[in-house]
Amino acid sequence: MIKPDAVADGNTGPIIQQIEKAGFKILAMTKLKMTPEQAGQFYAVHNERPFYQSLCDYMSQSEIIPMILEKENAVEDFRALIGATNPAQAAEGTIRRLFAKSIEANAIHGSDSNENAAIEGAFFFPGV
Ligand code: CMP
Repeated sequence: MIKPDAVADGNTGPIIQQIEKAGFKILAMTKLKMTPEQAGQFYAVHNERPFYQSLCDYMSQSEIIPMILEKENAVEDFRALIGATNPAQAAEGTIRRLFAKSIEANAIHGSDSNENAAIEGAFFFPGV
């Protein structure tokens, strides 16, 4: 999912180019604005964390671009491509290092397991 900061800054094109160059096939893609309730549901796993409310506000502030991606070893390879959550700790050349503004406005989200990829994919693309 390309996050609101990256979409608003016009970084969608270079981010998608980097994803495709890394060998990911885009199976589904759309652009939408989540409600705060939808953002809260998507990130429900973090609802006890101190940053939860701010995260829900940020994720519903403007449009996002969710995608379903396909590749061998996709979860691990995508997390390597995007880099650490905190852009200050993200490796050189990673999407977050290049485009993130802060630990919250960090440009992009990637699922952390195959199981969560299926859940998160179905959240935006039911039936795909
Ligand atoms: P993401 O990988 O999508 O997962 C949870 C999100 O919460 C994270 O990226 C950030 O956008 C946001 N977040 C804000 N503050 C923190 C923090 N201190 N630690 C981890 N995630 C944070």
